[in-house]
Amino acid sequence: MSNSIKIIKKIGIFKKIIKVPGDKSLSIRWVLFASLAEGRSKAKNLLMSEDVIAAIKAVKKLGIKVIIKKKECIIFGKGIEGYNYKKNLTINAQNSGTLGRLILGLLVNSSKPINLIGDKSLSKRDFSRVSKPLSRFGAKFKLKKNNFLPLKIYGSSNLKPIKYHENKGSAQCKSSIIFAAMRTDGDTIIKAKKSRNHTELLCKHLKLPVSIKKNNNYDEIKIKKVKKIGTINYDIPSDISSSAFFIVLTALSEQSELVIKNVNINPSRIGIITILKKMGVKIFFKNQKTYKGEKKADIKVIGAKNIKAINCPPKLNSGAIDEFLVIFLVAAKAKGVSYFRNIGELNQKESPRLQWAEKILTNLGIKTITTKDSIKIYGNPNLNINFDKKIIIKNYLKDHRVFMTSLIAALSFGGQWVIHDKDSINTSFPNFLKIIDEIKK
Ligand code: S3P
Repeated sequence: MSNSIKIIKKIGIFKKIIKVPGDKSLSIRWVLFASLAEGRSKAKNLLMSEDVIAAIKAVKKLGIKVIIKKKECIIFGKGIEGYNYKKNLTINAQNSGTLGRLILGLLVNSSKPINLIGDKSLSKRDFSRVSKPLSRFGAKFKLKKNNFLPLKIYGSSNLKPIKYHENKGSAQCKSSIIFAAMRTDGDTIIKAKKSRNHTELLCKHLKLPVSIKKNNNYDEIKIKKVKKIGTINYDIPSDISSSAFFIVLTALSEQSELVIKNVNINPSRIGIITILKKMGVKIFFKNQKTYKGEKKADIKVIGAKNIKAINCPPKLNSGAIDEFLVIFLVAAKAKGVSYFRNIGELNQKESPRLQWAEKILTNLGIKTITTKDSIKIYGNPNLNINFDKKIIIKNYLKDHRVFMTSLIAALSFGGQWVIHDKDSINTSFPNFLKIIDEIKK
């Protein structure tokens, strides 16, 4: 079967209600917390994508029993010190930066060295951003060229708390340090630039000794050693990052309307909503609820008539970090020049996404000025690609979000597209194309 997809027709007007799969960040965190709990934890709507399955395989290798049923996943945690594994174990984080970085925090006290490997994309990503602060606790690391996977971690039985300044706005770095601190006597203190706070909310829900002082631009997080974690049953809300593709598809389709049910709208994740609203897109939250400290709602989007350019305030960056590629498609159709700055982190993702943004936009006939950490997008409100223009998207390190963004561009702006590596969606959103078909019907 071919691993590419051809799109030769724009999408028509639609009015639909859809549901997207469970949130990836919450799913991976649930697997890790449940693996440390004492007893049986159960999750519903756990995202069954390759990244989350890699997390399940990782905790299984650490000696934790997991049962996957049709509608739920059960993890039999053996307590905070319950991991049990053989010498020279290898954990494969596959494509997942979140799994690779978070799990290292939990391995700082491992009694036997553990290898961490990943796929081609993950092996190009920076791991010194976690190995450096984690080695200050007392763990030791060997990394390829001091930066990359494969790496080996040598845990320590004599961990010391640290003071750590997280200044990238990376929830992966912050969470990795929180996990290591949970294993360490004394007070670890993190001064963290704002980023998604699912780990902190789970700690609070589990009543772990973690306290947070919120300031304007950063949080001060104090963590003490955790003695015991209770079981955690979780009904995981849908992923706003997966929803983003459909939010943009609708925004770009005048007269269309879409409702996405039961989506996690944690304030640290809804940068895309704030940005698109500023650009003139009508988006509403309905049936808002709070669930185990996380906010969720149905999201309603209405196709926009006039899209305005935006000079995007950098304080929105971390809350939209995974959504920028698809947000840029909205800027492509805006009246005026949009400007996004301080977004160098995009080049640290599954592929160098700022570079890919430039390539996709250039294919659309949109002028951009791109630097290593910013992009200016010269929007065209009449953007429409000639039917006979051929666009091929390939060799993008199988970055799922490059695939999905290209597909939304094809359906929104026309042209004849061939987008390679369809299976890239399996890392985060295996039924993406099924939902596209549902909307098209
Ligand atoms: C994630 C944090 C973000 C994000 C990633 C998921 C998480 O990465 O891009 O998709 O679940 O903590 P950074 O922390 O590197 O910004």
